[in-house]
Amino acid sequence: MTAEAAWAFLLPDSLRSLTVTLGDHPKRGGQDERHARRARRQAKGRQAASEPASRRKSRHYGPQRQARGRSERREEVVDKGIAARIERLIDGIGDISAPVKRALRAVPRHQFIPPVALVADDTTAIIDREADPAAWFDAVYSRLPIVTQLDDGATDLRDEAGGLYTSSNSAPGTVTDFLDLLDLSPGHRVLEIGTGTGWTAALLSHLVGAQHVTSIEVDAALAEQAAKNLSDAGSHPHLITGDGAEGSPERAPFDRVHVTCGIRTVPYAWVEQTRPGGRIVLPYDPGFATGHAALRLTVKPDGTASGKFAEYAAYMMMRSQRIAANAERGPDREARTRIDPRTITEAPSGAALAMSALTGLYLSTGRQDGRLLTWLSDPAVPAQWTLITHVPGADDFEVYQVGDRPLWDEVTDAYFRWVDWGEPGRHRFGMTVTPGGQRVWLDTPQQAVE
Ligand SMILES: C[S@@+](CC[C@H](N)C(=O)[O-])C[C@H]1O[C@@H](n2cnc3c(N)ncnc32)[C@H](O)[C@@H]1O
Repeated sequence: MTAEAAWAFLLPDSLRSLTVTLGDHPKRGGQDERHARRARRQAKGRQAASEPASRRKSRHYGPQRQARGRSERREEVVDKGIAARIERLIDGIGDISAPVKRALRAVPRHQFIPPVALVADDTTAIIDREADPAAWFDAVYSRLPIVTQLDDGATDLRDEAGGLYTSSNSAPGTVTDFLDLLDLSPGHRVLEIGTGTGWTAALLSHLVGAQHVTSIEVDAALAEQAAKNLSDAGSHPHLITGDGAEGSPERAPFDRVHVTCGIRTVPYAWVEQTRPGGRIVLPYDPGFATGHAALRLTVKPDGTASGKFAEYAAYMMMRSQRIAANAERGPDREARTRIDPRTITEAPSGAALAMSALTGLYLSTGRQDGRLLTWLSDPAVPAQWTLITHVPGADDFEVYQVGDRPLWDEVTDAYFRWVDWGEPGRHRFGMTVTPGGQRVWLDTPQQAVE
């Protein structure tokens, strides 16, 4: 493949995949859709084995119970089935604090999932509560994220062509990790960014009291549905429709800020609106391969915030921080590299954090005809990008560079600096946010990665 052909192929999908952060499931349709059909068939097969307790029990209902109303019995059975599913979910996730476990039991996830949604595993599949309730409940009480919106609502979830995931009910294990990172106490004033389906807002409300929770959603249709979900579930946090990047000065100060959309640049408003000693927990996503991670910042009396990266976390990007699909043409040149691109694209997340902090570049990957395409781009200059093509078995690899900046050399230099530092893992990196911007550091805030 020529660099030209690869570029033409890579541009739309790679830039989409940069903003799709649920384990790199960019689209439905094509091959994805074939997998999805298989997944749906398999899900049906699984039903027999993992049929909900509610269905099994209902077959054995004895005559002594027949006097009671049918719907009352059904409700009781369903409730027992849900409780059992929640316990299995909790066991499956494993490490969860006692208060968060209690919140999961008190706030059933299914109350926040629309009748039709997409379940995102290696592939995606439609779940339809009416057509196949057992498969719907299986998905809802699995550890998978449930996608609830494509292309900001412009594309129907059933559209075979697929679209960009723009809202979801996040993976339960990630939700519980974040709630535990927040270290909440009853009475804490909490700001959530990204109400989505409302499930997290309800969990937060259970943990600190609904009167202390403020949640902001940018999408009016999602905000309206979340308000209904919450009200139906009997939870009444303060809801705002607007841009979460501005926070909520009128409801500040907060003890905790919980961000549930991917963040590349931390808005200083969140630091300003959090009391000293308070925490901001967010999914950091610098747009560079495996560099996603939860970030826990502590706000200090001097008006800065600082903290370390924690668990892996991949979320849909905040709307205003999505990567725009603009890659202009300019002077180009071709070279070859002996470094296998997979050394960079599959590097551990500590390396990705270091490379992104050192270069300020974006990196994404795509595949075509068995070749791995690695796309580097400069967010500040659209006519500055590079495509590296990995062909299996080759001794060296094509580097197609547009613009003067040698992006591939910069990234590989950054990688080998990280090797020289002793290959530090993600947990050794941190970030400091000040009114003037943010910087990534290694081990201590004094050791900036630059
Ligand atoms: C992964 S979902 C959040 C899941 C949600 N916490 C729940 O429990 O269902 C991310 C949400 O962030 C929202 N979002 C994106 N940009 C935003 C912004 N600037 N302000 C507020 N919400 C935003 C999206 O519309 C989407 O609903």
